Amino acid sequence: MDTRDRWHAVAVARLVLRMKPDAPDRLVRAALLHDVGKSVRPYRLAERIAGHVLPDAWLGTQRGAAGYVKRYHARLGAAMVREVGGSEAVAQLVEQHERTDAPAGSELAVLVAADRQT
Ligand SMILES: [Fe+2]
Ligand SMILES: [Fe+2]
Repeated sequence: MDTRDRWHAVAVARLVLRMKPDAPDRLVRAALLHDVGKSVRPYRLAERIAGHVLPDAWLGTQRGAAGYVKRYHARLGAAMVREVGGSEAVAQLVEQHERTDAPAGSELAVLVAADRQT
């Protein structure tokens, strides 16, 4: 992972712990890994900025393109966690961290909120 993505991951994990001091290990690990799927493409600042303002299709939809990685990084990250034998609970949190309909009060909702605020 790029240093900037690692910084973000640590910031999200710290915020998770501030929001939920008794957060289970799986939630903290998911916070640290939630964007690991972005590591399939080198970090390019201009792309990241463009990704906030342009539709994914404009960034490319073919496998590995910036728009593809933006859209599917959660799924890619969950596959990485599973591939290395990580816990299924962590993989599921990683896979769902971009959801907008996380059940209120759930661990996923804490992760989603921390990610959005960081
Ligand atoms: Fe993400
Ligand atoms: Fe994130």
